[in-house]
Amino acid sequence: MNEGKWLNKKVSRREMLKMTGVGVVGVAIGATGLGGAMKVMGYDVLEVVSDNPLSKNKVNFYGKYQSGIATPAQKHVYFASLNVLFDTPEKLKQLFQKWTPMIVRLMNGEQIDEMSSNSYVPPVDTGEAEGLNANNLTITVGVGPSLFKKLNIEHIKPKELEDLPHFPKDQLQEAYTGGDICIQACADDPQVAFHAVRNLVRQASGQVVIHWAQAGFNSFPEGGGTPRNLFAFKDGTVNPKTDEEFKEVVWCDSGWMKNGTYLIVRKIQMHLETWDRTSLKDQETTFGRYRDSGAPIGKMDEFDDFDIEEKDENGNYIIPEISHVHLARKSGAKILRRSFSYASGIVDKTGAHDAGLLFISFQKSPKQFITIQNSLGRMDKLNEYITHRGSAIFACFPGVKEGGYLGETLFKAL
Ligand code: HEM
Repeated sequence: MNEGKWLNKKVSRREMLKMTGVGVVGVAIGATGLGGAMKVMGYDVLEVVSDNPLSKNKVNFYGKYQSGIATPAQKHVYFASLNVLFDTPEKLKQLFQKWTPMIVRLMNGEQIDEMSSNSYVPPVDTGEAEGLNANNLTITVGVGPSLFKKLNIEHIKPKELEDLPHFPKDQLQEAYTGGDICIQACADDPQVAFHAVRNLVRQASGQVVIHWAQAGFNSFPEGGGTPRNLFAFKDGTVNPKTDEEFKEVVWCDSGWMKNGTYLIVRKIQMHLETWDRTSLKDQETTFGRYRDSGAPIGKMDEFDDFDIEEKDENGNYIIPEISHVHLARKSGAKILRRSFSYASGIVDKTGAHDAGLLFISFQKSPKQFITIQNSLGRMDKLNEYITHRGSAIFACFPGVKEGGYLGETLFKAL
């Protein structure tokens, strides 16, 4: 592909304006949609915006890994799955070069672009995050298997990046399944997360459309701790915590995915009405944990370790054999779960709550998720109370060094 000529220099917007000598270039940039990458004296120049250490409640954009993965979970997510309208990798590269400085600004708690003062054109930033701080906004970007086909770059698609197989009891709807690109925006304020996705998509108008999107929330107990899902159980207890565990479970080791990871998202409806008619004992048997403390059955504390093979004096498994935790642990595979609850009104046909879990997991290989989901299979007692409605998989790039851009390693592999 045509790499163009690169001026490997940090160039701020102000410097760019000076170099071009055109005071009103901002309008021209907005209108042509070039944004983050532009030609200056024959060179393609990537605009570089730095993380602002003075921003309040800020997560850094630059680093070895993308944010929003190992970052402690925030209270809100706005997850969007996009389809692209172009068919060349050059266009994809331009899009990521354009988005990169915008994402840094958003994560700084700033407007998506500096130039919003011309009252004769629509404001560049849509404005609803004005007066709000960064709220620990993280933006995580990944690409789905369909994108490689559309752009005719299947030779660099990681073999493992395939649509997930059909699992027993899946009732997937096209409306919540697949996608070429994902943007996971997490923040401690719902409007900050939504604003980020809205503006990135708006800046890519004519290049991407939203295929599906879902908002989600997590509520943390006073003083911190594991949030509860809509079945009231603490969710996220057993997860990688140390750098070593992240290396073992989450980060890819080689190729353009090195220090990246696979994101799997499942929109799982939880049948709250059925659950609410279930006795506490059955609820606890379903998960293999106590509702109040979150401790494994037979233990005292949420974080007490347990052995699924342990039996009581009657020879029954202490953590019931068909409980969610028993089967998940039995698979032997590990993943990072970083899920959010959702509540999206009611299901038209039944009047039931359309609510559940926007299950999001990160793993260095999709096999880890597949192994666990197959182990849960038809046996998981939780199946009586849930239905998988949506599914997608995305390859998330490694992190970005200042001066670089999202997805850079993929383009180098072309
Ligand atoms: C609505 C659907 C689901 C709900 C409500 C749910 C809830 C829970 C809860 C309450 C726990 C115990 C506490 C904890 O360790 O976080 C748990 C553990 C776990 N879940 Fe789920 N889960 C769901 C779907 C899934 C799916 C789809 C997978 C992966 C295929 C999965 C994998 C796991 C794993 C690996 C554990 C930890 C098991 C261990 O202790 O080793 N869960 N889940």
